[in-house]
Order: sequence, then structure tokens, then C-alpha cells
Amino acid sequence: MSGIDVRPISGALGAEVHGVQLGDPLDNATMDAIHRAFLDHLVVFFPEQRLTPDQHKNFARRFGPIYIHPMVEGMEGHPEIIRVVREPGERTNWGSKWHMDGGFAEKPPLGTMLHAQQIPPYGSDTMWTNLYLAYDALSDGLKRTLEGLKAVHASGAAARYESKYKGMKSKAAEASQAIHPVIRTHPETGRKCLFVNNDFMVRFDGMTEEESRPLMHYLFEHSIRPEFTCRFRWKAGTLAFWDNRCTQHNAISDYFPSRPELFDSPRIMHRITVEGDRPV
Ligand SMILES: [Fe+2]
Repeated sequence: MSGIDVRPISGALGAEVHGVQLGDPLDNATMDAIHRAFLDHLVVFFPEQRLTPDQHKNFARRFGPIYIHPMVEGMEGHPEIIRVVREPGERTNWGSKWHMDGGFAEKPPLGTMLHAQQIPPYGSDTMWTNLYLAYDALSDGLKRTLEGLKAVHASGAAARYESKYKGMKSKAAEASQAIHPVIRTHPETGRKCLFVNNDFMVRFDGMTEEESRPLMHYLFEHSIRPEFTCRFRWKAGTLAFWDNRCTQHNAISDYFPSRPELFDSPRIMHRITVEGDRPV
């Protein structure tokens, strides 16, 4: 018996997990229940977490070594944690396009944990999409076409990650890219998913960008159909943990100056990513 209470938030994916403080020592039964919820729901939300940066890192390490972002500086004293900062008056926040994290790496992260520090009174929600469902909904003909196809995922320059944000800083890093299968088999569940990354996938391997564009564009649009998604409203203290191997996410930038109580509020998150493996 773990004592946790898992409450789904949509038909496609996402669940709130109540009854646990992640900073406490967690026994194996509780860790197993959290892991099960993570695999079943793809993104899990733990409300009202009182977590220090060290406790956040300790919890992340129960799932694997911490992945260090090659392009963006970590926090002072905690290089494993990125402070995702959108200052008052900035029009966008980090990650406001559909994407998966670190897809340009040979081994993209297994998952990401975001711990909300300061959140506007409303707005700046985040959406996720379930790439298992996106795969399942394809026709048998298109599934066969995509089987064996690979795609190039490119990082772009380091400045892409923070140049718009006063509160963030890039590292001097080379652009990088990786080639991944378009259909990925999840290493833990054994299920297939449509492994596309709308913001970082540039072309199919062995084809030009121009040749790739029509089918790639179709897959991008297909992967974010509303019925495959969930949308979460943040509160300070919530920690979200998502499976980066079978989801994309979009941190919505709805900062319109016509709503000053939102526009003039900061949004600050602490982000840790856990190392993953080579997609197959
Ligand atoms: Fe992201």
C-alpha cells in the first residue's frame, strides 16, 4: 500500500497525484506507485510540494542521473537545475512551442521535472500531448510507411534557448543534432509512439527539407490533435514530471498586455531533466 491517490485530468493523459511529499524519504512501495502512475499517465502533477533544490535533485535521481542542458546555464550553486524565468512584461516564456526536451541529443532526456516557484494569478498553462495515441490513430498504411524511417533533430544555436529572456543565460555551446526513428518503442512499456518533435525535427534522414516538409507537417499537426492533449493550470508548489519519451509539451505564452495582473507577474520554474537512452 503506497497511500497515494491518482486522479486523471483528461481522457488522453495527465494525472494529479495526492498524498505524498516528494522531499520526504519515500519507501519502495510509494516509489513503485509513483513510477506506475508516471508510465500510465505520462505526466503527473504533485501539488503543494515543499521541496528544496537538494530534495528536488534527490527525487530526480531516483529515476536516473541528472541530464545537464548543453546550452543553458544552471542555477548558482545548483548547476543541475535550470531556473526558467519569464520576467514581468516579457511576451513569451521558455518552451512556448510544441516540442520534446533535448531531442537533438543522441540520448534525449527520459523525463523532465518542473517545480513551480512563482506563477501568475491565471494564464501561462502548459499543454502535453500523448504520442502513443497519435501513433495508434494512424492508418496501417502510414504506419508501414513510417516504420524504418528516421529523422534529423537539430538544436540550432545556443542563443535560441534564452536570448529572449532577461532572466536566463546560455553557455558557449556548439549546435548539435541527432538522428532518431520516427516510430519509437518505449523502453519501459514496450508501446510504440509517434516520435516527432515539432520545434526541432528538420527533415527525414536521407531526404531534403523540401521533400520532407509535407509529410512532416502532417505528422506535426496530427500529433497535437486536441483529443490527444491535456492542459494544466499551475499553482506555486506544484511539481510536474513528464515522460519525455512519448509526449510533447507547449508552455503557452498568453501574456497579453491588456491583462496587467497577468502581464506584470513573473513566472519562475525550477527544471531538472533525467538522462534517457538512445531511441529505438
Ligand atoms: Fe520543454
